[in-house]
Order: sequence, then C-alpha cells, then structure tokens
Amino acid sequence: MAVELIATGRAVPSRRVSNEDIAKTVDTSDEWIRSHTGIESRYIADDDAAVSDLAVEAARNALKMAVDRAEVGEKSPEELAETLDLIVLGTTTQDYYGCPATSCLVQNRLGAKKAAAMDVTVACSSFIYGLETAAALLSSDRRRRRALVIGAETLSRITDWTDRESCILFGDGAGAVLLEKREGAPAKRGISKDRGLVRTVLGADGSGWENLIIRRGGSRNPWKTGETVAINPHVEMNGRAVYNFAVRVITETIAALMEEESLTIQDIARIIPHQANARIVQAAGKRLGIPEEKFFLNIGKYANTSSASIPIALDELNRSEQLRRGDLVITVGFGAGLTYGGNLIVW
Ligand code: COA
Repeated sequence: MAVELIATGRAVPSRRVSNEDIAKTVDTSDEWIRSHTGIESRYIADDDAAVSDLAVEAARNALKMAVDRAEVGEKSPEELAETLDLIVLGTTTQDYYGCPATSCLVQNRLGAKKAAAMDVTVACSSFIYGLETAAALLSSDRRRRRALVIGAETLSRITDWTDRESCILFGDGAGAVLLEKREGAPAKRGISKDRGLVRTVLGADGSGWENLIIRRGGSRNPWKTGETVAINPHVEMNGRAVYNFAVRVITETIAALMEEESLTIQDIARIIPHQANARIVQAAGKRLGIPEEKFFLNIGKYANTSSASIPIALDELNRSEQLRRGDLVITVGFGAGLTYGGNLIVW
C-alpha cells in the first residue's frame, strides 16, 4: 500500500510587488534584497481576500488536474471533492483567530462533505508535517483513501511593513497536493520502493521559540480592552539565528533522508527546499557537496510564502512536466518553533 501524490494545484494573488516598490517605503534597495536573499518580487493578496480564498483556489486546481489527467474516475472536480476523506491545511495566517479551523471553511466551500478537516500550525514546516500527517491518517484506516494537503498563507497580514529586515522576505500564496492510497506501484529507478511518500523526517527545537514570533494576541500577551493598537500582530525575527539554524537542519535533514534509504545524490531528481532565502539553500548545498541545480528555487518570483512555498514549487514542476513518474524528490524546510523536516517522495 502506498500513499501517492496524484495531482497538484496552486493559487497566487494577482498583485505583484517588486523590490523597488518596497524600497519606496523602507530603507532598502533592489540590489540589497537580491544579493542577500535572491528575492525579486512577491505577490500580495487583495485586502478583501482571506487565506481560505487562496487555499480553495489551489485545491480546486489540484482536483481539476486529477480529473483532466484521468488520475481518478470522477468526471468533475466537484464530484471528486465529495470523495475526499481528509483535508489538512498548513497555515500560520488562519481566516479567524483560534477557531474555526480554516480547513473547515475550505471543506465547506469545496463541498467535501465527508472529509475530516484539520489545520497544522508549525509555520513554514506545516506542509511537510501536513503531508506526513495526512499519509499516516490514510494508512491507519482502510476506509480512508483520499486527502488534500494544502499550504496557504497571507503573510502580508502579519508582516511589519516598517521592519526592513523582515518585510522584504514575505509573500502570499497557496499550493495543494491530492493524495490517494493505492496498491503499490514500483518506483522506476533509484529505490526499491513503491511510488508515493516513502519517509519523512520531522523535528523541533523549541529553545529557539523567540527567534520567529508573533508576540501579541495569544494567551501570554492578550490584547487588553481599551488598549490602543499601534500595529497589527506581526512577526518578529532574529534573522541571523534563523539563518544559522536553517542551514544546519536543511543539511542534516537531506543527509538523514538519503542515508536512511541508502541513496546518493545521483539518485535524487530534485530537492525542493522551503523558499526562505536562496543563500540558505546555497550554503546547505555547499556543505553537502550537492550541485546548485539539484535544488529547485522560485523564491525570486514569490519570496517566502511559508507553508505554501513547497506545494507551489511542486505544482510548478509538475505542470511544466519537470517531474516524471518514478523520480525521487526530497522536500526540506524549517520554520518558527523552531521546527524542521523533510519528505522523501517517489513521484
Ligand atoms: N536593506 C538594506 N539593508 C538591510 C536590510 C534591508 N532590507 N536588512 C538588513 N539590512 C542591513 C542591516 O541593518 C545590517 O546593517 P549594519 O551592518 O549597518 O548593521 C546589514 O544589512 C547586514 O545585516 P545582516 O542581518 O547581517 O544581513 P544578513 O546578510 O544576515 O541578511 C536576512 C539578513 C534577514 C536576509 C538573513 O539573516 C536571513 O534570511 N535570515 C533568515 C530569515 C528567514 O528565513 N526567516 C523566515 C524563516 S521561515
């Protein structure tokens, strides 16, 4: 039995914000942002759009791909949605604080009547955690067959647009992957495993909890009645500490995934890192002796979309036919918490 990734989708807001646009409001430059992060632009959701809007659009695109490519017997995305057993949504920017889970809003709008729905909130690692969670839940009960895993963010809503160190980094967007539990189909190369999710590494280092944090609004520091609010809840970041953590855990996670399956880098078709900073990826690649072109980077276009960055990248690769059945793919990421993880997938 294998849990296969059978279709993908993404949604990106139409409003593009360039580095030059940001340099009009904070003391920075296109040259600094490009050279320190690899970012050229980001997409920002309209004021009336919530994260569930992006999540639903990405999910519909994944369902449509599954129908169009005849991965499923259903004749329409709507019909397919009714067969879903589970929706796992990774996000840090829920439509509503605390409850309801945004995945429930997505479930309702998709018409996924019989699907269970849950949010996963481990910041930028949410898609990696979510994929493993969904695969485990499909595997643990024979009645569950199909799941949607979505990563969706409106980080623009929790960005401090006066902080030049962090506001240059973030963007909005969503990506979705449709999973189906199938009788195993053997991988074509590199590994004696069935197609699908092979293995996941997950981890956390809570001692770094303050390095990426939204301080206000939770039970530790609730807003007080009558308090004048100068700025919305926003992310505070210790950039250097996160950078060092990221390089270390990306290196260790890729090494662990390959070692556990006795793989070499030649066996891996593509590594899809969380798109936080191109320099983080380059530094990790250098440590491992992995050529840069193994890593898929689209950070230049979208910036850091947190839990959406990996499923957006998967969809770009999948739609442009850059992933072939049987290819070995590694995803790897890190985020607030601090958390980290990676998935080894036979495409
Ligand atoms: N424009 C121009 N100058 C900037 C700047 C900006 N947007 N942001 C910071 N600087 C300045 C700093 O003030 C500092 O100036 P100083 O030397 O006069 O004090 C200088 O640039 C170097 O700052 P430093 O913090 O050393 O830069 P850096 O090369 O480490 O890059 C980050 C900063 C934030 C890009 C980098 O640390 C990073 O990407 N960290 C990880 C963040 C991350 O991934 N967060 C999300 C995790 S999911």
